[in-house]
Amino acid sequence: MSIETPLRRGQDTTVQQTPMLEVTDLVVRYGRGRKAAAASAAVDGVSFTIQPGETVGLVGESGSGKSTIGKAILGLQKVSGGSVKFQGEDITHANSGKRRTTGSELRAVFQDPNSSLNPRKTIGASLAEPLRVRGISATDARTRAEDMLERVGLPRDAVDRYPSQFSGGQRQRISVARALICEPKLVVCDEAVSALDLSTQAQVLNLLADLRDERGLSYLFIAHDISVVQFLARRVVVLYRGQVMESGPAAAVTENPKHPFTQALVAASPVPRPAEQAERRAVRESLGIRTAAAAAATPGGCPFRQRCPLATELCATERPALRRVGESDVACHYA
Ligand SMILES: Nc1ncnc2c1ncn2[C@@H]1O[C@H](COP(=O)(O)OP(=O)(O)OP(=O)(O)O)[C@@H](O)[C@H]1O
Ligand code: SF4
Ligand SMILES: [Mg+2]
Repeated sequence: MSIETPLRRGQDTTVQQTPMLEVTDLVVRYGRGRKAAAASAAVDGVSFTIQPGETVGLVGESGSGKSTIGKAILGLQKVSGGSVKFQGEDITHANSGKRRTTGSELRAVFQDPNSSLNPRKTIGASLAEPLRVRGISATDARTRAEDMLERVGLPRDAVDRYPSQFSGGQRQRISVARALICEPKLVVCDEAVSALDLSTQAQVLNLLADLRDERGLSYLFIAHDISVVQFLARRVVVLYRGQVMESGPAAAVTENPKHPFTQALVAASPVPRPAEQAERRAVRESLGIRTAAAAAATPGGCPFRQRCPLATELCATERPALRRVGESDVACHYA
């Protein structure tokens, strides 16, 4: 990724205490009844934790289950197995009443700001909505909306304008303002910068890092591009077909990937300099990883085996468990 604005990775203020989020053996199947039982799981036994003040990056190809995990945490998707704990409290099957309580502490920023901004409402009305629900007066809510808009780099009078009067990058800043106006503890950012051009991407990433450092926020930062994730995340979880292939400190996973899929993901991630890009292309070709189109979904064994040049018979029969390799946990028999 080309960075025109200098990016700061920021400091995570992680202290060992009750995790902010604890996802354990999460399983999500789409469909209902027999259809769901017969369907292969979109998320298949995923576990990770996020500590207070920590950013965890979730990466993987399209369809690997990243958004499904985000939705399960936010209560927007029914969970088929496993658990989700938020600040030590089990919210896996929380009803809407309980979600209303956790709702202000657990917020989201999505790729498409139009999904969180009503085109027929002024920005002020959209920002004030979650505050008004919590009994804050219209005058106070307006002032807080103006303050928040100023904090994300927009003029105070943006409160009286409509979403269509802003650029994509400005709309994404407004989405960030809307997510943060209730002073949440954890924000799920699902492809929050993916639709933006590279310099706007860098500005919004810096804004997210600054807000995190100021407010001690935790993020689950979801993206398909591992180079975007590594700027914010302290730890990275790599997903393939709903399963964790590798997880560990961001530097270890991105600079010294152990799983063949992570190696392919790093080699596929775009870099600004043509010489480096050519180098990566050569690495990618030397890995001998087959394309996603070549791999049909087949149950059992390692989910990556049809694309993996190192696959053996063992890979076809036994699903590799996550095991510690260096600083990372890796699900590969031969890592
Ligand atoms: N509402 C749904 N009904 C049925 N299947 C779904 C639904 N939403 C997602 N899926 C399937 O679940 C799997 C995971 O989808 P998900 O949207 O979580 O992937 P993703 O990693 O977020 O992909 P992308 O990078 O394209 O956003 C995919 O195979 C997808 O087709
Ligand atoms: S377990 Fe086998 S198929 Fe899977 S990534 Fe490792 S070597 Fe490749
Ligand atoms: Mg998605």
